[in-house]
Amino acid sequence: MSSLGTTIFAEMSSLAVEHGAINLGQGFPDLDGPEEIKAVAIDAINAGRNQYPPGIGIPELRQAIAGHQRRKYGMEWSPETDVLVTAGATEAIAAAILALVSPGEEVVLMEPFYDAYYAATLIAGGSPRAVRLRGTDFSLDPEELRSQVSGKSRVIVLNNPHNPSGKVFTREELLEVAAVAEEFNLVVLADEVYEHLVFEGSHLHFASLPGMRERTISISSMAKSFSLTGWKIGWATGPANLVSAVKATKQFLTYVNGAPFQPAAAFALDNAERLVPEVREPLRAQRDLLANGLASLGFNLHPCNATYFVISDLGPATSTDSRRFCLDLIERAGVAAIPTSAFYLGAEAPVEVRWTFSKQRATLAEALDRLGRVKEW
Ligand SMILES: Cc1ncc(COP(=O)(O)O)c(C=O)c1O
Repeated sequence: MSSLGTTIFAEMSSLAVEHGAINLGQGFPDLDGPEEIKAVAIDAINAGRNQYPPGIGIPELRQAIAGHQRRKYGMEWSPETDVLVTAGATEAIAAAILALVSPGEEVVLMEPFYDAYYAATLIAGGSPRAVRLRGTDFSLDPEELRSQVSGKSRVIVLNNPHNPSGKVFTREELLEVAAVAEEFNLVVLADEVYEHLVFEGSHLHFASLPGMRERTISISSMAKSFSLTGWKIGWATGPANLVSAVKATKQFLTYVNGAPFQPAAAFALDNAERLVPEVREPLRAQRDLLANGLASLGFNLHPCNATYFVISDLGPATSTDSRRFCLDLIERAGVAAIPTSAFYLGAEAPVEVRWTFSKQRATLAEALDRLGRVKEW
Protein backbone atom coordinates (compact mmCIF):
# COMPACT_ATOMS: atom_id res chain seq x y z
CA MET A 1 0.00 0.00 0.00
CA SER A 2 2.83 2.34 -0.93
CA SER A 3 0.65 5.22 -2.06
CA LEU A 4 -1.76 4.82 0.84
CA GLY A 5 -2.03 6.39 4.24
CA THR A 6 0.62 4.63 6.30
CA THR A 7 3.58 5.76 4.19
CA ILE A 8 2.28 9.23 3.47
CA PHE A 9 1.34 9.94 7.10
CA ALA A 10 4.80 8.84 8.27
CA GLU A 11 6.49 10.89 5.56
CA MET A 12 4.54 14.08 6.37
CA SER A 13 4.82 13.67 10.13
CA SER A 14 8.58 13.17 10.20
CA LEU A 15 9.15 16.09 7.84
CA ALA A 16 6.77 18.22 9.96
CA VAL A 17 8.84 17.48 13.07
CA GLU A 18 12.08 18.22 11.21
CA HIS A 19 10.82 21.65 10.10
CA GLY A 20 8.92 22.58 13.27
CA ALA A 21 5.73 22.67 11.20
CA ILE A 22 2.22 23.00 12.65
CA ASN A 23 0.74 19.58 11.99
CA LEU A 24 -2.73 19.90 10.46
CA GLY A 25 -2.23 16.48 8.91
CA GLN A 26 -2.96 14.02 11.68
CA GLY A 27 -6.35 14.16 13.40
CA PHE A 28 -5.82 14.51 17.11
CA PRO A 29 -6.74 17.43 19.36
CA ASP A 30 -4.12 19.55 21.14
CA LEU A 31 -6.47 19.97 24.10
CA ASP A 32 -7.57 16.98 26.20
CA GLY A 33 -11.20 16.08 26.77
CA PRO A 34 -13.25 16.97 29.88
CA GLU A 35 -11.43 17.00 33.24
CA GLU A 36 -14.29 15.09 34.87
CA ILE A 37 -13.66 12.09 32.63
CA LYS A 38 -9.93 12.11 33.28
CA ALA A 39 -10.60 12.29 37.04
CA VAL A 40 -12.56 9.03 36.91
CA ALA A 41 -9.61 7.26 35.24
CA ILE A 42 -7.18 8.67 37.80
CA ASP A 43 -9.45 7.54 40.64
CA ALA A 44 -9.70 4.10 39.05
CA ILE A 45 -5.92 3.75 38.99
CA ASN A 46 -5.70 4.84 42.61
CA ALA A 47 -8.51 2.48 43.57
CA GLY A 48 -6.51 -0.45 42.18
CA ARG A 49 -8.39 -1.13 38.95
CA ASN A 50 -5.15 -2.03 37.22
CA GLN A 51 -5.36 -5.74 36.39
CA TYR A 52 -6.89 -7.54 33.42
CA PRO A 53 -10.57 -6.62 33.15
CA PRO A 54 -13.05 -9.00 31.47
CA GLY A 55 -12.21 -9.57 27.80
CA ILE A 56 -15.55 -8.23 26.60
CA GLY A 57 -15.19 -5.11 28.77
CA ILE A 58 -16.27 -4.27 32.33
CA PRO A 59 -20.02 -4.62 32.96
CA GLU A 60 -20.50 -0.93 33.80
CA LEU A 61 -19.01 0.13 30.44
CA ARG A 62 -21.06 -2.41 28.48
CA GLN A 63 -24.17 -1.13 30.26
CA ALA A 64 -23.18 2.47 29.53
CA ILE A 65 -22.70 1.65 25.82
CA ALA A 66 -26.10 -0.06 25.68
CA GLY A 67 -27.65 2.88 27.55
CA HIS A 68 -26.10 5.37 25.13
CA GLN A 69 -27.44 3.46 22.10
CA ARG A 70 -30.89 3.36 23.71
CA ARG A 71 -31.03 7.07 24.57
CA LYS A 72 -29.43 8.38 21.37
CA TYR A 73 -30.86 5.96 18.81
CA GLY A 74 -33.70 4.07 20.47
CA MET A 75 -31.82 0.78 19.94
CA GLU A 76 -31.98 -1.97 22.56
CA TRP A 77 -28.86 -4.12 22.88
CA SER A 78 -27.98 -6.67 25.53
CA PRO A 79 -24.83 -5.62 27.42
CA GLU A 80 -24.11 -9.36 27.82
CA THR A 81 -24.20 -10.51 24.21
CA ASP A 82 -24.47 -7.52 21.85
CA VAL A 83 -21.74 -5.19 23.09
CA LEU A 84 -17.96 -5.61 22.90
CA VAL A 85 -15.27 -3.26 24.22
CA THR A 86 -12.19 -2.98 21.98
CA ALA A 87 -8.81 -1.24 21.73
CA GLY A 88 -10.26 1.82 20.03
CA ALA A 89 -12.43 1.68 16.96
CA THR A 90 -9.36 0.44 15.11
CA GLU A 91 -9.39 -2.94 16.81
CA ALA A 92 -13.13 -3.30 16.30
CA ILE A 93 -12.64 -2.65 12.57
CA ALA A 94 -9.75 -5.12 12.28
CA ALA A 95 -11.41 -7.82 14.38
CA ALA A 96 -14.68 -7.50 12.45
CA ILE A 97 -13.02 -7.75 9.04
CA LEU A 98 -10.78 -10.63 10.16
CA ALA A 99 -13.80 -12.43 11.57
CA LEU A 100 -16.07 -11.97 8.57
CA VAL A 101 -13.80 -12.01 5.52
CA SER A 102 -12.03 -15.13 4.24
CA PRO A 103 -9.20 -15.11 1.72
CA GLY A 104 -10.52 -14.26 -1.73
CA GLU A 105 -13.65 -12.52 -0.46
CA GLU A 106 -14.31 -8.85 -1.07
CA VAL A 107 -14.82 -5.80 1.07
CA VAL A 108 -16.55 -2.80 -0.48
CA LEU A 109 -15.09 0.55 0.55
CA MET A 110 -16.10 4.08 -0.33
CA GLU A 111 -13.15 6.16 -1.43
CA PRO A 112 -11.72 8.37 -0.16
CA PHE A 113 -11.56 6.00 2.85
CA TYR A 114 -9.93 5.80 6.25
CA ASP A 115 -6.93 3.57 5.55
CA ALA A 116 -7.46 1.02 8.35
CA TYR A 117 -10.29 -0.65 6.36
CA TYR A 118 -8.01 -1.31 3.45
CA ALA A 119 -5.16 -2.62 5.60
CA ALA A 120 -7.45 -4.92 7.62
CA THR A 121 -8.93 -6.30 4.39
CA LEU A 122 -5.46 -7.16 3.09
CA ILE A 123 -4.45 -8.74 6.41
CA ALA A 124 -7.57 -10.90 6.20
CA GLY A 125 -6.52 -12.02 2.72
CA GLY A 126 -9.52 -10.24 1.22
CA SER A 127 -9.76 -7.94 -1.78
CA PRO A 128 -10.76 -4.31 -1.35
CA ARG A 129 -13.18 -2.90 -3.93
CA ALA A 130 -13.84 0.82 -3.93
CA VAL A 131 -16.77 2.90 -5.03
CA ARG A 132 -15.81 6.52 -5.45
CA LEU A 133 -17.69 9.33 -3.71
CA ARG A 134 -17.89 12.14 -6.23
CA GLY A 135 -18.51 15.84 -6.64
CA THR A 136 -18.61 18.72 -4.22
CA ASP A 137 -20.68 16.75 -1.72
CA PHE A 138 -18.83 13.44 -2.15
CA SER A 139 -22.09 11.88 -3.31
CA LEU A 140 -22.68 8.15 -3.48
CA ASP A 141 -23.95 6.88 -6.82
CA PRO A 142 -26.05 3.75 -6.17
CA GLU A 143 -25.25 2.30 -9.59
CA GLU A 144 -21.53 2.69 -9.00
CA LEU A 145 -21.97 1.03 -5.62
CA ARG A 146 -23.77 -1.90 -7.24
CA SER A 147 -21.04 -2.20 -9.85
CA GLN A 148 -18.47 -2.89 -7.11
CA VAL A 149 -20.53 -5.63 -5.42
CA SER A 150 -20.24 -9.23 -6.55
CA GLY A 151 -20.98 -12.73 -5.34
CA LYS A 152 -17.65 -12.62 -3.48
CA SER A 153 -18.54 -9.51 -1.46
CA ARG A 154 -18.99 -10.02 2.27
CA VAL A 155 -18.85 -6.59 3.88
CA ILE A 156 -19.59 -2.96 3.02
CA VAL A 157 -17.74 -0.45 5.14
CA LEU A 158 -19.74 2.70 5.76
CA ASN A 159 -17.95 5.54 7.53
CA ASN A 160 -20.52 8.13 8.56
CA PRO A 161 -19.81 10.93 9.37
CA HIS A 162 -17.00 10.56 6.92
CA ASN A 163 -13.25 10.95 7.28
CA PRO A 164 -11.52 12.50 5.30
CA SER A 165 -14.32 14.60 3.78
CA GLY A 166 -16.37 15.85 6.75
CA LYS A 167 -19.47 14.62 4.90
CA VAL A 168 -22.66 13.44 6.58
CA PHE A 169 -24.41 10.88 4.36
CA THR A 170 -28.00 11.69 3.39
CA ARG A 171 -30.86 9.41 4.33
CA GLU A 172 -31.32 8.55 0.64
CA GLU A 173 -27.71 7.46 0.31
CA LEU A 174 -27.93 5.34 3.45
CA LEU A 175 -31.12 3.73 2.18
CA GLU A 176 -29.28 2.82 -1.03
CA VAL A 177 -26.50 1.20 1.00
CA ALA A 178 -29.14 -0.66 2.99
CA ALA A 179 -30.87 -1.86 -0.21
CA VAL A 180 -27.58 -3.18 -1.63
CA ALA A 181 -26.67 -4.85 1.67
CA GLU A 182 -30.02 -6.61 1.72
CA GLU A 183 -29.96 -7.60 -1.94
CA PHE A 184 -26.45 -9.11 -1.74
CA ASN A 185 -26.73 -10.34 1.85
CA LEU A 186 -23.80 -8.27 3.10
CA VAL A 187 -22.74 -7.23 6.58
CA VAL A 188 -22.39 -3.48 7.01
CA LEU A 189 -19.52 -2.26 9.13
CA ALA A 190 -20.74 1.16 10.25
CA ASP A 191 -17.80 3.17 11.57
CA GLU A 192 -19.52 6.02 13.40
CA VAL A 193 -16.63 7.38 15.48
CA TYR A 194 -17.70 10.94 14.57
CA GLU A 195 -21.36 10.33 15.53
CA HIS A 196 -21.29 13.20 18.05
CA LEU A 197 -19.28 15.66 16.00
CA VAL A 198 -21.92 16.84 13.54
CA PHE A 199 -22.18 20.62 13.08
CA GLU A 200 -25.00 20.85 10.53
CA GLY A 201 -27.80 18.35 10.02
CA SER A 202 -28.03 15.26 12.17
CA HIS A 203 -26.43 11.85 12.34
CA LEU A 204 -28.50 8.89 11.19
CA HIS A 205 -27.43 5.69 12.93
CA PHE A 206 -27.22 3.11 10.13
CA ALA A 207 -28.30 0.14 12.28
CA SER A 208 -31.60 1.92 13.00
CA LEU A 209 -32.68 1.82 9.34
CA PRO A 210 -35.35 -0.76 8.47
CA GLY A 211 -33.86 -4.25 8.18
CA MET A 212 -30.33 -3.15 9.09
CA ARG A 213 -30.24 -4.09 12.78
CA GLU A 214 -29.58 -7.74 11.94
CA ARG A 215 -26.73 -7.11 9.50
CA THR A 216 -24.87 -4.13 10.95
CA ILE A 217 -21.90 -3.93 13.29
CA SER A 218 -21.79 -0.38 14.66
CA ILE A 219 -18.44 0.91 15.81
CA SER A 220 -17.51 3.94 17.87
CA SER A 221 -14.96 5.03 20.45
CA MET A 222 -13.85 7.49 23.11
CA ALA A 223 -11.30 9.08 20.82
CA LYS A 224 -13.22 11.75 18.94
CA SER A 225 -16.42 12.25 20.95
CA PHE A 226 -14.47 13.02 24.11
CA SER A 227 -11.09 14.25 22.73
CA LEU A 228 -9.23 11.33 24.27
CA THR A 229 -7.59 9.76 21.25
CA GLY A 230 -4.75 8.20 23.25
CA TRP A 231 -6.99 6.09 25.48
CA LYS A 232 -7.86 3.61 22.73
CA ILE A 233 -11.17 2.48 24.17
CA GLY A 234 -13.73 1.64 21.51
CA TRP A 235 -16.72 -0.61 21.10
CA ALA A 236 -18.86 -2.60 18.71
CA THR A 237 -22.59 -3.17 19.01
CA GLY A 238 -24.73 -5.48 16.95
CA PRO A 239 -26.63 -8.76 16.93
CA ALA A 240 -25.13 -11.47 19.14
CA ASN A 241 -24.04 -13.70 16.24
CA LEU A 242 -21.96 -10.92 14.65
CA VAL A 243 -20.59 -9.56 17.93
CA SER A 244 -19.53 -13.01 19.07
CA ALA A 245 -17.60 -13.50 15.81
CA VAL A 246 -15.79 -10.20 16.39
CA LYS A 247 -15.17 -11.21 20.00
CA ALA A 248 -13.57 -14.50 18.96
CA THR A 249 -11.00 -12.60 16.87
CA LYS A 250 -10.49 -9.76 19.35
CA GLN A 251 -9.56 -12.27 22.03
CA PHE A 252 -6.36 -13.07 20.15
CA LEU A 253 -5.55 -9.49 19.14
CA THR A 254 -5.52 -7.67 22.49
CA TYR A 255 -7.40 -10.04 24.82
CA VAL A 256 -8.49 -7.17 27.10
CA ASN A 257 -8.29 -3.37 27.10
CA GLY A 258 -7.08 -0.63 29.47
CA ALA A 259 -8.72 -1.36 32.84
CA PRO A 260 -8.75 2.14 34.43
CA PHE A 261 -10.00 3.81 31.25
CA GLN A 262 -13.14 1.69 31.15
CA PRO A 263 -14.93 3.17 34.21
CA ALA A 264 -14.04 6.60 32.82
CA ALA A 265 -15.50 5.68 29.43
CA ALA A 266 -18.66 4.49 31.20
CA PHE A 267 -18.89 7.83 33.01
CA ALA A 268 -18.38 9.72 29.74
CA LEU A 269 -21.13 7.80 27.93
CA ASP A 270 -23.56 8.07 30.86
CA ASN A 271 -23.04 11.84 30.72
CA ALA A 272 -22.60 12.22 26.95
CA GLU A 273 -25.51 14.63 26.52
CA ARG A 274 -23.84 17.09 28.91
CA LEU A 275 -20.17 16.46 28.04
CA VAL A 276 -20.17 16.15 24.25
CA PRO A 277 -21.07 19.83 23.61
CA GLU A 278 -17.90 20.78 25.51
CA VAL A 279 -16.00 19.02 22.73
CA ARG A 280 -18.25 19.73 19.74
CA GLU A 281 -18.87 23.46 20.11
CA PRO A 282 -15.22 24.57 20.23
CA LEU A 283 -14.61 22.27 17.24
CA ARG A 284 -17.37 24.00 15.30
CA ALA A 285 -15.70 27.37 15.91
CA GLN A 286 -12.34 25.86 14.89
CA ARG A 287 -13.92 24.50 11.71
CA ASP A 288 -15.23 27.97 10.86
CA LEU A 289 -11.88 29.61 11.59
CA LEU A 290 -9.90 27.21 9.41
CA ALA A 291 -12.43 26.97 6.58
CA ASN A 292 -12.92 30.74 6.34
CA GLY A 293 -9.19 31.33 6.60
CA LEU A 294 -8.35 28.84 3.85
CA ALA A 295 -11.10 30.26 1.64
CA SER A 296 -9.76 33.78 2.05
CA LEU A 297 -6.32 32.53 0.98
CA GLY A 298 -7.80 31.24 -2.27
CA PHE A 299 -8.43 27.57 -1.46
CA ASN A 300 -11.71 26.05 -2.69
CA LEU A 301 -13.26 23.85 -0.05
CA HIS A 302 -15.72 20.99 -0.05
CA PRO A 303 -18.56 21.53 2.41
CA CYS A 304 -17.66 20.13 5.83
CA ASN A 305 -20.55 19.38 8.19
CA ALA A 306 -18.86 17.07 10.69
CA THR A 307 -15.68 15.36 11.95
CA TYR A 308 -12.20 16.88 12.39
CA PHE A 309 -11.45 17.48 8.72
CA VAL A 310 -12.02 19.64 5.67
CA ILE A 311 -10.80 18.99 2.12
CA SER A 312 -9.64 21.70 -0.27
CA ASP A 313 -7.98 21.97 -3.63
CA LEU A 314 -4.42 23.31 -3.86
CA GLY A 315 -5.69 26.90 -3.87
CA PRO A 316 -3.18 29.40 -5.17
CA ALA A 317 -0.65 26.69 -6.08
CA THR A 318 -0.19 25.70 -9.70
CA SER A 319 1.02 22.19 -8.81
CA THR A 320 -0.98 19.19 -9.96
CA ASP A 321 0.67 16.84 -7.47
CA SER A 322 -0.93 16.96 -4.03
CA ARG A 323 1.86 14.98 -2.34
CA ARG A 324 4.50 17.35 -3.73
CA PHE A 325 2.34 20.31 -2.66
CA CYS A 326 2.19 18.99 0.92
CA LEU A 327 5.92 18.32 1.05
CA ASP A 328 6.64 21.85 -0.21
CA LEU A 329 4.08 23.33 2.17
CA ILE A 330 5.97 21.97 5.16
CA GLU A 331 9.18 23.60 4.00
CA ARG A 332 7.76 26.84 2.64
CA ALA A 333 5.00 27.58 5.12
CA GLY A 334 5.77 25.42 8.15
CA VAL A 335 2.34 23.79 7.95
CA ALA A 336 1.63 20.10 7.37
CA ALA A 337 -1.47 18.71 5.65
CA ILE A 338 -2.25 15.35 4.01
CA PRO A 339 -2.69 14.76 0.28
CA THR A 340 -6.01 12.97 -0.11
CA SER A 341 -4.37 10.50 -2.49
CA ALA A 342 -3.57 8.72 0.82
CA PHE A 343 -7.25 7.76 0.98
CA TYR A 344 -7.71 6.34 -2.54
CA LEU A 345 -6.88 2.95 -3.98
CA GLY A 346 -4.68 4.63 -6.53
CA ALA A 347 -5.96 5.47 -9.93
CA GLU A 348 -6.41 9.16 -10.60
CA ALA A 349 -7.05 10.45 -7.12
CA PRO A 350 -8.30 14.04 -7.10
CA VAL A 351 -5.60 16.63 -6.51
CA GLU A 352 -6.75 17.68 -3.05
CA VAL A 353 -5.59 18.13 0.51
CA ARG A 354 -7.08 17.26 3.91
CA TRP A 355 -6.65 19.69 6.80
CA THR A 356 -7.62 19.05 10.41
CA PHE A 357 -9.24 21.73 12.56
CA SER A 358 -8.91 19.65 15.75
CA LYS A 359 -6.41 22.20 17.07
CA GLN A 360 -6.90 25.19 19.33
CA ARG A 361 -7.84 28.49 17.75
CA ALA A 362 -4.42 30.02 18.42
CA THR A 363 -2.73 27.11 16.63
CA LEU A 364 -5.05 27.41 13.64
CA ALA A 365 -4.60 31.19 13.53
CA GLU A 366 -0.82 30.75 13.52
CA ALA A 367 -1.08 28.15 10.74
CA LEU A 368 -3.23 30.51 8.65
CA ASP A 369 -0.82 33.32 9.32
CA ARG A 370 2.06 31.17 8.10
CA LEU A 371 0.12 30.24 4.97
CA GLY A 372 -0.68 33.89 4.36
CA ARG A 373 3.02 34.74 4.41
CA VAL A 374 3.90 32.37 1.54
CA LYS A 375 5.01 34.59 -1.34
CA GLU A 376 5.30 32.04 -4.12
CA TRP A 377 3.11 28.97 -4.36
C1 LIG B 1 -13.01 7.06 10.55
C2 LIG B 1 -12.16 6.65 11.70
N1 LIG B 1 -12.35 5.44 12.26
C3 LIG B 1 -11.59 5.02 13.28
C4 LIG B 1 -10.58 5.81 13.80
C5 LIG B 1 -9.74 5.29 14.92
O1 LIG B 1 -10.38 5.39 16.14
P1 LIG B 1 -9.68 4.87 17.47
O2 LIG B 1 -8.64 5.86 17.85
O3 LIG B 1 -10.79 4.79 18.45
O4 LIG B 1 -9.08 3.54 17.17
C6 LIG B 1 -10.35 7.07 13.25
C7 LIG B 1 -9.25 7.91 13.75
O5 LIG B 1 -8.79 8.82 13.09
C8 LIG B 1 -11.16 7.50 12.17
O6 LIG B 1 -11.00 8.70 11.61
